Amino acid sequence: MGSLVIAIDGPGGSGKSTLARELAGRLGLERLDTGAMYRALALAVLRQGMDPGDARGVTELAGRVRLEIEGSAVRLDGEDVSAAIRTPEVTRAASAVAAHPGARRVLVAEQRAWVESHGGGVVEGRDIGTVVCPDADLKVYLTADPVERARRRSAELAGAQAADAAADELARRDRDDSTRATSPLDVAPGAVVIDTTGRPVEGVVDQILSLLEKR
Ligand code: DC
Repeated sequence: MGSLVIAIDGPGGSGKSTLARELAGRLGLERLDTGAMYRALALAVLRQGMDPGDARGVTELAGRVRLEIEGSAVRLDGEDVSAAIRTPEVTRAASAVAAHPGARRVLVAEQRAWVESHGGGVVEGRDIGTVVCPDADLKVYLTADPVERARRRSAELAGAQAADAAADELARRDRDDSTRATSPLDVAPGAVVIDTTGRPVEGVVDQILSLLEKR
């Protein structure tokens, strides 16, 4: 099949990770969760006692840490931090860290290198279709009703956060991620917009597979 690249963007709780996992499985591709990279960098920032708003410090640290993503496992300098990056504190810091253009440059370069070395893949994030892989074979932008997104996010956190707290948090992150100056969350030119509200993932996967066939 050559190097097939599928870009999946959308806000938190829109269903990106579930879709990316299923799609990668069906197509025999690997998947890259770029949000996990921003989260792991945010964890490193917090562990250093650094301010997530410190552009220079965060950018410098981005160039120094070693981030490895393998499926759902995330390693920071060799340590498995897959669970540690899912706390509300890291979630907040990740949004701040992701606003720094310098840090984004470092991570975007690593993401492109990942796609290159894996011969394509399913890549999910906020700027995949717009910045990381603008030439992707298929670009998908997921949306979902805010109430459903908050419910999914709170379920994902396994009760660590109540649904109303998750809703507030998501609304704040949507605003921050969509209004930042560098690579804001946006629908890429040519992206297919899919509303996943009330839709089981299988149906969305089938829709995307048929879009791929029609290309
Ligand atoms: O998808 P997520 O919740 O794991 O993302 C964590 C944060 O990283 C979120 O605030 C948005 C940011 N992010 C980004 O700016 N660009 C990406 N490609 C992926 C995530």
